[in-house]
Amino acid sequence: MFFQKEAKSFDIDMGNIPSHIAIIMDGNGRWAKKRALPRKAGHKAGAEALEKIISDCRELGVKHLTVYAFSTENWKRSKEEVDAIMDLLRQYLKNYFKRFLQDDVRMKVIGDIRRLDKDIQESILEIEELSKEKNGLCVHIALNYGGRDELRRAICKLAEQAAQGTLRASDITEEVISAHLDTAGVPDPELVIRTSGEERISNFLLWQIAYAEFFFTDTLWPDFDRTSLEEAIYYYQNRERRFGGR
Ligand code: IPE
Ligand code: IPE
Ligand code: MG
Repeated sequence: MFFQKEAKSFDIDMGNIPSHIAIIMDGNGRWAKKRALPRKAGHKAGAEALEKIISDCRELGVKHLTVYAFSTENWKRSKEEVDAIMDLLRQYLKNYFKRFLQDDVRMKVIGDIRRLDKDIQESILEIEELSKEKNGLCVHIALNYGGRDELRRAICKLAEQAAQGTLRASDITEEVISAHLDTAGVPDPELVIRTSGEERISNFLLWQIAYAEFFFTDTLWPDFDRTSLEEAIYYYQNRERRFGGR
C-alpha cells in the first residue's frame, strides 16, 4: 500500500478529487525529537505544514478538509505542551484571520470548544462568522474533539427532545443522528489520511468514516507536502469503492 519514496509526482485525475479529505496530523513530536528540538517546535512546523496543505487542497478543488488538531485525550499531555499548542492556536487564528478575507476559504471548528480559553473561543466564533459566506474550500478544525464525545453530545440533544415529547424513538434515523453531529450538513470524508506510521483512528470521526478509504504514511506531519497529498489522492483514485455491493 505504500508507494516508493523516490516517486516524485503522481498522475492524479483532476476529475476525481475527493470532495472531503480528513487528516490525522500526527508525528510533530517525533519530527522535533529527530532534530533535538522541543516538542513545541514540532507543533509549530506542523502548523506551517497545515497552511500549505490548505492552499494545496484549495488548488486541487477539494471542498472540505477536516484536520485533527487536538483530541479530547490530548489534555493528558504536560501543561507545558498543552499551553504551547494553545498559544500556537491563538497565533494561528490571528494570522488566519488576516489572510482568509483575501481568499475563498471558510473555517469551522468541530469539537467541544467550551473547554478552550475564552479568548480562543471568541476568535473561533468570529472567524466562523466572518468566513461563513465563503464558498471555496471549507476547513474544519477538530479542537477538543473526540468521536465518542461528539456522539455523546448528539445523543444528549436527542434525549432532551425525546423528554420534551418532540421526538419519538422511531424518528431517530441515521440522517437524524448525522444532523446532530458537529459535522451536520457536511458529506462524509471519502479519504482519511494519517501520518507518522500509526495505523489507528484515535477517536477521530467515528460515525463519519463508515465507508472512507484510508491512507497511512510514514511521513511525519511537518514533512507532509503537496507531493504527499497527491500520493494519497492517487492511492484513493486507484481503490475500488464497493459500499457493500459487489
Ligand atoms: C500530533 O503530533 C499533534 C497533536 C496530537 C497535538 P504528536 O504531538 O502526537 O506527535 P508524536 O506522535 O508525539 O510524534
Ligand atoms: C491523534 O494523535 C490526535 C491528533 C492528531 C490531534 P495522537 O498522537 O494524540 O494519538 P495517539 O495517542 O497516538 O493515539
Ligand atoms: Mg502522536
